[in-house]
Amino acid sequence: MSEIQKTLDNLSQENRTFMPSPEFAANANVNAGIYEEAEADRLGFWAKQARELDWDNDFTDVLDWSDAPFAKWFVGGKLNVAYNCVDRHVHAGHGDQVALQFEGEPGDQLNITYRELMERVCKAANALTELGISAGDRIAIYMPMIPEAVVAMLACARVGAVHSVVFAGFSAEALRSRIHDAQAKLVITADGQNRRGSVMSLKPAVDEAVAASPSVNHVLVVQRCGNEITWGPKDVWWHEFVESQSSEHTPVAFDSEHPLFILYTSGTTGKPKGILHTTGGYLTQVAYTHRVVFDLKPDTDVYWCTADIGWVTGHSYIVYGPLANRVTQVIYEGTPDTPGKDRWWDIIERHGVTILYTAPTAIRTFMKWGDELPASHDLSSLRVLGSVGEPINPEAWMWYRSVIGGNKCPIVDTWWQTETGGIMISPLPGVTATKPGSAMRGLPGIGVAVVDDAGTPLGNGKGGFLVLTEPWPAMLRGIWGDNQRFVDTYWSKWPQYYFAGDGAKLDNDGALWLLGRVDDVMNVSGHRISTTEVESALVSHPSVAEAAVVGAADETTGQAIVAFVILRGGMEGQDGTSLVTELRNHVSNEIGAIAKPKKIMIVPELPKTRSGKILRRLLQDVAEHREIGDSMTLADPSVINLISAGLESSSTDD
Ligand code: WT7
Repeated sequence: MSEIQKTLDNLSQENRTFMPSPEFAANANVNAGIYEEAEADRLGFWAKQARELDWDNDFTDVLDWSDAPFAKWFVGGKLNVAYNCVDRHVHAGHGDQVALQFEGEPGDQLNITYRELMERVCKAANALTELGISAGDRIAIYMPMIPEAVVAMLACARVGAVHSVVFAGFSAEALRSRIHDAQAKLVITADGQNRRGSVMSLKPAVDEAVAASPSVNHVLVVQRCGNEITWGPKDVWWHEFVESQSSEHTPVAFDSEHPLFILYTSGTTGKPKGILHTTGGYLTQVAYTHRVVFDLKPDTDVYWCTADIGWVTGHSYIVYGPLANRVTQVIYEGTPDTPGKDRWWDIIERHGVTILYTAPTAIRTFMKWGDELPASHDLSSLRVLGSVGEPINPEAWMWYRSVIGGNKCPIVDTWWQTETGGIMISPLPGVTATKPGSAMRGLPGIGVAVVDDAGTPLGNGKGGFLVLTEPWPAMLRGIWGDNQRFVDTYWSKWPQYYFAGDGAKLDNDGALWLLGRVDDVMNVSGHRISTTEVESALVSHPSVAEAAVVGAADETTGQAIVAFVILRGGMEGQDGTSLVTELRNHVSNEIGAIAKPKKIMIVPELPKTRSGKILRRLLQDVAEHREIGDSMTLADPSVINLISAGLESSSTDD
């Protein structure tokens, strides 16, 4: 608590407030009455949101919480997610509306209408069936940001198969362990992807992972780049096998609690958690939140969420929520600096993007690149700006508002998690007066509180732990294969609340400020990485005896990974610089480039308590160049001086 308390004290009271404009408010999808409506009858409110979807069988109960914390939402209801995201729009006469405006990094463009999307999903669903996939089977998806990734996810949903999307930046080993944990029968991938002007091959990592995965029967490969790849007996080309299927497929309705997907996320141990989401509640909440938080107008908006489908934002706010709401959206394959650092602004101008949803780390990067780049493009089509993934600092918020939004677009800072499935805390555009840097308050239908150690809810002006006080439709239903871990991680600190792992503060007006993680989880560029996972990767290298990893404050990425490493006996003589490079690459190979430490410090000792626990807080002080605080609990106080001395001599930064 004391660390949080310090942050709280430092957090100056933010006095700027931005009222919604009268014009925006007059046309907004909702008004302030929605909070009262949800308050008056929470479950009735959710039932109403659920009935925006097309159910084959109506549900009999809104919520069954008798087996808490294992929830059942919309009990007895049956629906097909892919039908709700695609077919029903075609049947309602919107078959010619563009669903996806795809732009590849090299500049290739492809518009896909809802009718074409339906045909593609049907063909892929038929292909899955022919490959022996049936409802409940798991499918790993390891793909670039191309339309086939969306089609693959929807095809899984259509046949009731459970997808596990693995971010294509993860290593072969990370892919293998996720395939193994879920016992996936099929992997869907591509030959390569375009990154920074060149082709990055994806297939070799899949080949390596599949060679060690006896559960996998087939690998379905999209030809994206035409790069040379090795072809094995399990491999099937998408353009041959899927394209030759019938474009008709009758969807089957699945139970509201039928599993929809697993998505792995880092926890406080070395083993990622397979977060499990199901059908009816998930689709209800992502569609509802997408409609109210972004004020979506399906006939006129052009929406762009810059996330990757490898993360939950891509699942909930590229695929399921937006498509359920009949969005027209941009999908972009590549990096923001190719061919120039104005690529995003160029995309917004050419596609006429009206709603932009991105991450603070991207906003801070663009701030560094300079105002001239966005200023050289017409961004006047924009009307709502969203932020997600980490706290947005007031300075970045103000820049986003003025330089990107021309001081006219409401900003929605949306707090949620892989586990929550959908947005939980956010302003509502046209309704909420916003403060730069605050996610403001829980959405209608969502129960949020800030509590102290004892679990007592705190009042305004106080800081503590963020909890969710009521079950919500898109909540995780468990951790794949490890329900005990689900209970222990989220429901044991205070059994009546979901513990999110974040610190938060309510200011004097009751606005909510997120203060970052309170556990051993780092947030690097909006991506969650466990300190333990990186430590395990480091100690798997033959030169390393022990490692401690911390997240240090970083101007652009929020946090940066800093590792303290003790070498094995006999290794001390090695060239420090080349060893550090080798270790950084080793972590990249073990987990993926996103987990590559920014700095590795080779140290003679680590600060530990008498019971042998590593004092991460102290290391964080060192990594952030802060003065070392109280070290009374240290077994050997001189250790910290040794580490500080080593800091300048063996750090690497690139
Ligand atoms: C963690 C969840 C939600 C999709 C992307 C990340 C942090 C997320 C915010 C925000 C402050 C935020 C929290 C949370 N976080 N959004 N608007 N303000 N912090 O999903 O990988 O599951 O990470 O991201 O620390 O616990 P995730």
